[in-house]
Amino acid sequence: MAAATGAQSKGLIHTAACLIIGDEVLGGKTVDTNSAYLAKFCFSAGINLKRIEVIADDESEIVEAVRRMSNNYDFVVTSGGIGPTHDDITYQSIAKAFDLPLKQHDAAFERMKRLSKPHPSQPNFDWNTPSAALTAKKRMIILPYNDSIPDEEQVIFTDDQLWVPVACVNGNVHILPGVPRLFERMLDGLKPRLLPRLTDPEGKGVLRILISTPLPESAVAEYLTQLAARAEPKGVKVGSYPRWGKENNTVTLVGRDVEFMESIVPEVEKAVQGHRVAVEGEDDPAQADPKKTEVA
Ligand SMILES: *[C@@H]1O[C@H](CO)[C@@H](O)[C@H](O)[C@H]1NC(C)=O
Ligand SMILES: *[C@@H]1O[C@H](CO)[C@@H](O)[C@H](O)[C@H]1NC(C)=O
Repeated sequence: MAAATGAQSKGLIHTAACLIIGDEVLGGKTVDTNSAYLAKFCFSAGINLKRIEVIADDESEIVEAVRRMSNNYDFVVTSGGIGPTHDDITYQSIAKAFDLPLKQHDAAFERMKRLSKPHPSQPNFDWNTPSAALTAKKRMIILPYNDSIPDEEQVIFTDDQLWVPVACVNGNVHILPGVPRLFERMLDGLKPRLLPRLTDPEGKGVLRILISTPLPESAVAEYLTQLAARAEPKGVKVGSYPRWGKENNTVTLVGRDVEFMESIVPEVEKAVQGHRVAVEGEDDPAQADPKKTEVA
C-alpha cells in the first residue's frame, strides 16, 4: 500500500471520516457518543462527514481502516485505544499502517508529568524510578513519528490544561482519546487549526430546512422521490424521518443553494400538508406522549 505523501495535510477539507476503535462499543458495554459529536462538528463547519466505522481493538482492522480512510477522505478522526493498558493499541497500529516508527515524545512526557492529576492510590507517583506503572503511563506518549515532518504538525496540543496530544499521522489522521469529555474538548481545540482549510468555515452556506408533516412516509414517498431527483442537480438532499410515537414526521432539505431551497418550501409544504418548523418537535403537543411513557 502506498505510504504517506503528506499531501493531505495542507489542502481544503471537503470530506471527513470517523473511526471508532473499541471492543467496549462493539460488545455493548459502552455507547459511542463521539461519532455523533463529530457529526455535529462537521455539519457546523461545512465538512461532509462521509463515513463512521466502529471496529475492534485489533491491529489488522485498524491498519486496514486507517489506510483506506486516509486515502479517501480529507480529514480523518479516530477515537479510542490510546490508554495505558495492553489492549490500547491504536498508536502502534497506526504507526504500522504508515510504516512509521514509534517514538517517545519528550514534550508530551513533560506535560504529562506536570499536568496529570495524581491518582488517589498514587499520591506521590515517582516519575524517575522505573516501574510497571511508569511503563504503562509512557505508552501514552510513545507516538507514531515522522522525522521529516515538523513536530508541531504531528503532535498537537489543543489546550493548556491537557497533556494528551492529538497525534496527526500521514497528514490527515487525527488520533483522539475515546473518553467523551476529552474527545469533545480536543476536537473543539482543533477547530482554529482547521479554519483556514474550510471551504465554509461557519457552515453558513449549509442550510437544513425542516418541514413537519402529519402524513405517513408511505403517502409522501412518491412525491419525495421526484422532488429528490429535481433537487439533486442543485446539490440539495431530501430526507424523510419518521418520528416514533409522534404524530408528525419530518421532511428535510439540506444543501447550500439557499435560493433554490427557499423557493421550493411552499411547494413542499403543500405537497406533504405540513409546515416549516425551526426545531424538530416544536409543534408537538405539550403533554407527555402516552406511547413514550409506556416504554420508558
Ligand atoms: C515522512 O514525511 C515525508 C515528508 O512529508 C514523506 O515524504 C514521507 O513519505 C513520510 N514517511 C512516511 C513513512 O510516512
Ligand atoms: C403536525 O402538522 C400539522 C400540519 O402542518 C400541524 O397543523 C400540526 O400542528 C402538527 N403537529 C401535530 C402534533 O399534529
